[in-house]
Parts: sequence; structure tokens; C-alpha cells
Amino acid sequence: MNVNVAQTFNFLPVPTDIHFGCGVLRDLPERVRSAGATRPFLVTDPGVCAAGILDEVTAILRKADMGFTLCDRVKPDSGSALIDETAAELKRSGSDVVVGIGGGSSLDTAKAVAALATNAGSSLDYVGLHKVRNRPMPMIAIPTTAGTGSEVTLWSVFTDDTRSIKVAIGGVMIYPTVALCDPDLTLGLPPLLTAATGMDALAHAIECYTNNACQPISGALALAAIQLIGRHLRSAVLNGRNRESRYGMMLAATMAGVAMNPTRLGLAHALAMPLGSWNLRVPHGIVLAVTLPAVMEFNYLAEPDRFVDVAQALGESVEHLPRMEAAGRAVSAVRSLAHDIGIPSSLADYGLREEHVRGVVDEAMKSGNVPVNPRRTCAEDLARILRQVI
Ligand SMILES: [Fe+2]
Repeated sequence: MNVNVAQTFNFLPVPTDIHFGCGVLRDLPERVRSAGATRPFLVTDPGVCAAGILDEVTAILRKADMGFTLCDRVKPDSGSALIDETAAELKRSGSDVVVGIGGGSSLDTAKAVAALATNAGSSLDYVGLHKVRNRPMPMIAIPTTAGTGSEVTLWSVFTDDTRSIKVAIGGVMIYPTVALCDPDLTLGLPPLLTAATGMDALAHAIECYTNNACQPISGALALAAIQLIGRHLRSAVLNGRNRESRYGMMLAATMAGVAMNPTRLGLAHALAMPLGSWNLRVPHGIVLAVTLPAVMEFNYLAEPDRFVDVAQALGESVEHLPRMEAAGRAVSAVRSLAHDIGIPSSLADYGLREEHVRGVVDEAMKSGNVPVNPRRTCAEDLARILRQVI
């Protein structure tokens, strides 16, 4: 690792109590009690129910004689109205801990609901950074995908139903109290979902590692996550029952989540918010998977040394190549990974058309992920990147 003596930096230690390993789900009752609670309020979605994971959770709670209340109506990208309704339901239920079970949408909903338990008003009142003032109700995050890292991040992303755009509540109050990361919960995840969520984790790690706000502690975590993904994503997609791959991918997603809290990300994530909005609503992981190679192609010339590290972490042998060529290998390695795991090369099948470009770019340029991108970016640059994936 290169050091930069001119750099001063901040690293946010993650306050979340992380428990990681195959089978840690069975400790849920103990984790509820250690959070000072007795009655969980479960927040999840129909996919988690259909996969049989909710049954596993409720069986563990029943065995421990622990009563619970269930909300299983979370939709992809969630929505402010559902969050507000669920928060009201939580208050009526007499529960004292929120347990989110699922991918990013369920976990982010659960985080917002826990915040509204102790902060008056609607979820939309808290959009932005550090607006949540009162400590939320304790919240336990149980991820069932290896991607968003939401179990360890200070963001809750959801759809503002009044404007149909994706928004976020952020701040140190939003971190889950406990993360129960059990890789066995991802064994049944279908290939495309494994691929898209895995590419989201890769985008977190690469955008964090290569952006202008990266610092050595986040960088070390992000680089290790890139290595794990290079080693395990293909087999997690192609042989979903491979526990080693599932373990490696969940570890990577959680490490990338910790890494990115203080650094923000880059252009792929700037594009993800508007592309997940309005009538487009392209799934977050798909946006990242499709746009990441095009964004890297645009960026690698600006920070070649960092991209050389990415190429090496992905297993490319670049020692004898000229520097720029070695940096470019990071881009080709990600393209071939995406190809191997069945990621489409464009968003055309998801409804993206030329007429969307202006609106998406205008919204993306407002993102805090643009100023930290390694290469200075204007609206025309972003439009060019977007047109590559139409
Ligand atoms: Fe993401």
C-alpha cells in the first residue's frame, strides 16, 4: 500500500455489533436479549417468506418462547408510505426491537422504521444527513443477499412515493445495533440475484477504493473485498450451494459496507438513484452491474495506480505491463466477470431509452458521489457513459 504523507483522514468506526458465520441465525434470541429487548418486530418481504427463511426465523423465536409481530409486505426499493404505515404498526404492537430480514429493501425499511419509533413524523421528514436526532429503537439486521452491506451502513435508501424518486436517510443513528450475517441464508438465492447483488458489493469496493475520499483503513477493507469477490462470485452464481463461495461473498459485502461509510462512492452509484426512480425502477444491483465497467473505463486513466491494485486484487497478472495497460486490466477483468455471471450488457431490456438520459443525468449530477469520483465529471461525461448502456 502506498502512503500519502499529505493526507489527513477520518474513519468512522462502525458501532454495529457484527456476528458473522454459518449458523449464527440460531443466536437471534440471545441477540434480542443482549439488545435489552424481549419482543421483536420482524420486517421482511415476500421473497424471504417464499425462500423459507422467515419460517426458520420464526421457528427459532418460538423455540425460545419469544413472541413477535410480523410485517412481510416490503417491496423492492420500499416506499415512504409503507415505512410510515409500518412504523405506526410497530408502535401499536408493543415491540421493543426491530428485526430486518432480507436484501437492501427490507433492511433499509427496517432501519427507517426503527428511527421513526422514537422520532415523530414521516420518513420523508428525515431525508438527508444527520436529521435523525433521537436514538432509534434497537435494530437487528439479518441480510439474505450478499450485496448492499446495509447491515453495517449508516444509510436507509427508499422511494419517496410522492415524487417517485429514490431518497436516503443517513447518519450515525441509522447504523443497525446488531448485524447477524449468516452466509447459509444465501444458499438458495437465485443466480441472477446472486450476480446482481454481488456486483453491487464489487461496485461498493471498487468505487470506494478508487475515489478521492478513500483512505488507508477503508482502502484495505475494500481491496480485501475485491479479492474475495474475484475469487468467489463466479462460483456463488454458477454453483449456489457452494458454502465457501457464499461465505466469501457475504464477507466481501459486509467488509465493503464498512469500508464505504466514510468515503462515499462514485458515478455508478450516482446513476443508480435516478435509474431506480420514476417509472424506470431498474433494480439497484442490475444498474451497478451494467454501469460499473463503463464507469471504470472512464475513470481508470485518472487514477491508474489504484486501478492497477484493483486489477491485481481480481487476479490479473500485470507486473510486466506498462502502467496504463495494467490499470486497464481492471476494466477488462470486471467486464469478463460480468459476462461470465450472465449480467446483460445494456439496460435496454429494463426500459432505459434515449429520452431518459437528460433526466437521469440531471438528477445524478446532484449526488454526493460525483464530487468524490476519481475523474472530474460533467453532465456530458455522464450522458456519454449512460448512452453506452442503453
Ligand atoms: Fe450499492
